[in-house]
Amino acid sequence: MLDDIRNDLKLFNSIVEDFLIDEQENPISKKIDIIDLYKRIDLKLEDKPAVSEEFTSNLRKLVLATPKSSSKLFFNQLFGGRHSKAILGDLLAVLLNNSMATYKISGPQVGVEKEILKKVSSLIGYTDNSGGTFPTGGSMSNFMSLIIARDKKNLEIRNKGIRQEFIMYSSENSHYSIAKNASFSGIGRDNVRYVKSDNRGCLDYKDLKQTIIDDLSKGYIPFYVNATAGTTVLGAFDDIEKISRICKEFNLWLHVDGAWGGAVLFSENYKYLIKGVEYSDSFCFNAHKTLGVPLSSSVFLVANKADLYNSFSNQASYLYQTHNEEYNLGQTSFECGRRNNSLKLWTMWKAIGTKGIANIINYQFNLAKYAREYVKNSSQYKLYSFEDSLSICFNYKQYDPVDLCTKLYEFNKLMIGFGYFGSQSFIRLVIINSSNTQKEIKEFFEIIEDFTKKNHDSIRTITSK
Ligand SMILES: Cc1ncc(COP(=O)(O)O)c(C=O)c1O
Repeated sequence: MLDDIRNDLKLFNSIVEDFLIDEQENPISKKIDIIDLYKRIDLKLEDKPAVSEEFTSNLRKLVLATPKSSSKLFFNQLFGGRHSKAILGDLLAVLLNNSMATYKISGPQVGVEKEILKKVSSLIGYTDNSGGTFPTGGSMSNFMSLIIARDKKNLEIRNKGIRQEFIMYSSENSHYSIAKNASFSGIGRDNVRYVKSDNRGCLDYKDLKQTIIDDLSKGYIPFYVNATAGTTVLGAFDDIEKISRICKEFNLWLHVDGAWGGAVLFSENYKYLIKGVEYSDSFCFNAHKTLGVPLSSSVFLVANKADLYNSFSNQASYLYQTHNEEYNLGQTSFECGRRNNSLKLWTMWKAIGTKGIANIINYQFNLAKYAREYVKNSSQYKLYSFEDSLSICFNYKQYDPVDLCTKLYEFNKLMIGFGYFGSQSFIRLVIINSSNTQKEIKEFFEIIEDFTKKNHDSIRTITSK
């Protein structure tokens, strides 16, 4: 057994070597058409075992053919790049394979998670009464906040289910998990009020207030507001301070979904974007988005830990056999067996310090500024996003962004996506890889310029749609 793991780790290292070289030489893996997938790589599972060379060569092939999300040309989603100390922590977490449910199973790893939660809580400005956990991602963090808010409004719902018309509020530009979570929590998708946003994509707090007043006059029960710190497309920050005043006035739970932009918490230069976050009831940010921590690492905090316990603790005599709920973290999580998603953030944080994390955030915003200036300085480009955002939304000449992004992918040039704000579509460049420099960002634009020049006739234009 010991030899097996040693040999497999040798194989792992050799595949990693090949992968890292390939990532430099071919930052975009050649796209495999779905119809060719099973022809190009042997994915079939069979009764007989694969002979060792066949197994090894297949595995290598599979790894090299997979889209490279940490390469310099991956801008497709809100994660990318890698911090080596975070990778180290995550690999160790895989090897250790603890479940974070109890102190008995994970020992000092509980301390790792609690230390991060304590530090993040003090950065937010919550008191020592706060509590938190590491859900599987931003969607799950948002879900947990909704459940807690629902139960806080009426604790009986835990036993009897919902019998009242509860209403929740979120901007029309918030993440799609809000709608799904409304459905999962029994609130119902029809009971989400999508509040208008202003012309910069931020929630219009006047519309929020009016919508709440209208709902109250109809006998509905408002209970929850989601404010977004970094909207998924434009990277806009809702005005938390103003929204928090409305929540206070109407006694509503305020959750701040900072999955994309909440890590500004670490930076003295950019923390003002979440001014008022200390008045929120819950908050989350994804270390796997801006900080280069591998998927997934989402940090979820609740101002009052009693609220977290009320919704998520449960008796289980087969599980909780030693220690108390303070150290048996399963009492505050959704999952029973829960992967250790905190060690990777801890190894990075320990290695580079809080200042190092702040530097990553400041660096990403500087890169975003560089990209924005590039767009603003050329009449061939049109900018749709705003200052102080890590998303740079733009169009180039008259090219249709949907067609252009798809062709850049099909021709293995760039991994980049498009987005919409209102009826406007555009290319969305996201600054997520802190290994990139201005050189790679310039290269990104040059690839678009060169590709459109060579393929002008085959790319749709906005007017020719
Ligand atoms: C604002 C916002 N909230 C929540 C999420 C969901 O996070 P996750 O992908 O970790 O579930 C995203 C993902 O892009 C997001 O942009």
